[in-house]
Amino acid sequence: MQDLYAVPHRYTFVLLLTTDYEPGNHPIRNHEFFDSNRGRAFAFDSIMMRQSRRASKQLLWMWVEELMRESQGFKSGLDIACGYMKNKPMFKTENYFGLDADEERIETGQATTGGRGIVCKIEDIPPDIKGDFVVCLETIGINTRFDEGNAVIAYEKCVHATNRGGSLLVNVGPRARDYFGAIEKIASDSFVEVEIREYGRASEKRHRTIANLLSKLYLLFPFLAKSKTTPHLLIYCKNRRDGN
Ligand SMILES: C[S@@+](CC[C@H](N)C(=O)[O-])C[C@H]1O[C@@H](n2cnc3c(N)ncnc32)[C@H](O)[C@@H]1O
Repeated sequence: MQDLYAVPHRYTFVLLLTTDYEPGNHPIRNHEFFDSNRGRAFAFDSIMMRQSRRASKQLLWMWVEELMRESQGFKSGLDIACGYMKNKPMFKTENYFGLDADEERIETGQATTGGRGIVCKIEDIPPDIKGDFVVCLETIGINTRFDEGNAVIAYEKCVHATNRGGSLLVNVGPRARDYFGAIEKIASDSFVEVEIREYGRASEKRHRTIANLLSKLYLLFPFLAKSKTTPHLLIYCKNRRDGN
């Protein structure tokens, strides 16, 4: 296998744009790739965990998989609105716990992934359910079952479910766009470090190759991913100030 660090950047750029993320048969699986645009190193093997025919969502999964590598070293992982627990493999924490309003999803998730979880609405998370690395993805302002009028309280619940010193990764979608400002304020008041990525362009389903090409273009040039019509935020917070 070729060492990608040894490949000149103009070739790695072309490779990035032309290669499909196909689980299991990727020619450069397990090889580190240097993203010269953002100056970060990450690996293709984990980029391929979740896929979407929507370029905006494919970009989200690439970002999420990169960021969730940082869950390594944390003890407890908490997946809020976990659905079928598809995010479980991305948690590098010692343990994993999910919660979701849908009982059938919790049962199926437990049976298929071996994760543990409870049936619970975000708005009702009890104070003793907490994690060191907490995520809530594809739900607030995105999922049609979620009441967007509860976006701020749901985000607050996610913050309260994060232990002191812990990290929180949440994406918020266009249905909750009126609350983006309030949510950003809570994030910056509650955590030492806050990083917000705007995206949402190309949220329609496309041929997988087209979606892959677009998502990789957005990965290299994130400003192109911003959308006025379907705005999304990926909010990554580190080092919770309060909590126990
Ligand atoms: C699109 S799925 C995302 C699941 C998972 N987070 C993922 O990334 O694969 C949205 C999930 O949010 C759950 N959900 C919606 N509103 C909720 C609420 N108020 N409290 C808890 N779960 C909720 C749904 O049952 C569904 O499983």
